[in-house]
Amino acid sequence: MFISFEGLDGSGKTTQAALLAEAARAAGWEVVSVREPGGTAAGERVRTLLLDPEARIAPWAEALLYAAARAQLVAEVIRPALDRGATVIADRYVDSSLAYQGVARGLGVAEVLEVNLAATGRLLPDRTILLELPAGRAAERRDAVADRIESEAEHFHASVAGGFADVARRFPDRVVVVDGSGPPADVAARVQAAVGL
Ligand code: TMP
Repeated sequence: MFISFEGLDGSGKTTQAALLAEAARAAGWEVVSVREPGGTAAGERVRTLLLDPEARIAPWAEALLYAAARAQLVAEVIRPALDRGATVIADRYVDSSLAYQGVARGLGVAEVLEVNLAATGRLLPDRTILLELPAGRAAERRDAVADRIESEAEHFHASVAGGFADVARRFPDRVVVVDGSGPPADVAARVQAAVGL
């Protein structure tokens, strides 16, 4: 099974991806955890470039760099893990590109999806957990030192939130919206229910 976590920076995805991996391992599942962008030697180098506050990257270059890191991660890690029956838990995947590059950068959801389907051999998750917080809460939780994307203006993040809502409407069979507010253990219980653990 392939599970991805999505949401704004500061939505608690990384914590929840780790808690789900722990619970799934305790239940005897073989779990492979990955994060995007990155997760491979080549992908981590692309990540450094993408998140460098000094880097000047045009919108389509940005979308293609995220897709390149993703293509490498699928080929090197995700596909082999799924082929041997492991569960893959991803901290971000294609839907981040749809919300950040497709909607917030204005490249178009259909256009960015097309590129990503080509890059991944059309691999989409079985379940995507979209963690939602009331407007403004994610911004309060974001790191003090912002990377190139986090340092975008508040209207950019509002547009990303709208992008994720659009993604949830487009893919209702795959995407489950989970309330990310409250103690992490309570959120984790909602996430486990959503993946049938
Ligand atoms: P992270 O903070 O979750 O590691 O993600 C790094 C940043 O990259 C985050 O601000 C969201 C952004 N991002 C995109 O813009 N498009 C993508 O496809 C992915 C995976 C991340």
